Amino acid sequence: MEGGNAAYAGGRRGSPVFPREYQAETLFQIDIAFKMRWQFSAGGRGRGGAGAAEGEGLLQSRHILLDFAAEQEHARRIRIITQSEIMSRKPIIAANWKMNMGPAEAREYLAGFRKELAAFDGSHVEKVLVPPFVTIPAVMDALGGCSCVGVGAQNCSDRDNGAYTGEVSTAMLAELGVRYVVLGHSERRRYYGETDSFINGKIKKALAAGLTPIHCIGETLEQRDGGQLESVLRTQVTEGLAGLAPEQAASVVIAYEPVWAIGTGRTATARQAQEAHAFVRSVLADSFGRETAEKIRIQYGGSMKPDNALELMAQPDIDGGLIGGAGLKPDSFAAIIRAAC
Ligand code: 13P
Repeated sequence: MEGGNAAYAGGRRGSPVFPREYQAETLFQIDIAFKMRWQFSAGGRGRGGAGAAEGEGLLQSRHILLDFAAEQEHARRIRIITQSEIMSRKPIIAANWKMNMGPAEAREYLAGFRKELAAFDGSHVEKVLVPPFVTIPAVMDALGGCSCVGVGAQNCSDRDNGAYTGEVSTAMLAELGVRYVVLGHSERRRYYGETDSFINGKIKKALAAGLTPIHCIGETLEQRDGGQLESVLRTQVTEGLAGLAPEQAASVVIAYEPVWAIGTGRTATARQAQEAHAFVRSVLADSFGRETAEKIRIQYGGSMKPDNALELMAQPDIDGGLIGGAGLKPDSFAAIIRAAC
């Protein structure tokens, strides 16, 4: 199917080809150069109108026409099931609030966010909020035991307990019901001097406590421009995950966050992000084997927003997002989750 003049082939299986009238209303087109499963339902004018059709199958295509007709009530929708889902990598979208949002603000956020979430079926996506430590209990309270949203921490200690002023242990986080911990964020590397081996120690502590580490990696602009992209990513991945068994590595989430894209409004293009993610997956395969590498989820982070999330999420090796600025507003964070559904 190459854009243009296709017609619906009919039948519930086989290559889908869409009729002209859908193309006329197609708002945009994205390149998807991989094999994917597809599912669609298309109504005529009005819900369940004449000509309603639905189906699913497998296709190999370079171009999929996505119809996001503004008139949602016409129930015309094509849902792309991405490579990640085929590989059983459940998309994971997390909001890293960084040093924003005290308990009171978080309660207000949660009231809005829960309303946003109630408006669509987000069960295909793992949703995570990552507040500052002191805000975690308020977030837990406001979630009222709803496990549909996980809670993460922004850091943890590499020690179990003892005389380590200012540190927070993985056991303390687990006691609060925290399930994830963001480690090795570029801001911690840059402002607090965290090294790959230090981060490795924390990743091991997190795993031992049953927490899911979100291991952040990413190059600076100078490194990218200087041709060091691959060597930087390889070092951060291999040293950060050194000593892990493949089963442990499979439960880690990697967040590829190019430093030059964080908080700058300058997102990596979908192609740049996909290339980096595919490279990271190849490094994971070198370390832990192809099968394990295919299970590891790799999030993209860096100025991810409602208007670029869909294109990023459509890439075969992008399995989610680690969101900064756009995660501070319930409506924009929910819109990103929606794009991943
Ligand atoms: P922005 O989405 O604000 O660029 O931040 C990304 C990030 O650092 C998430 O950890």
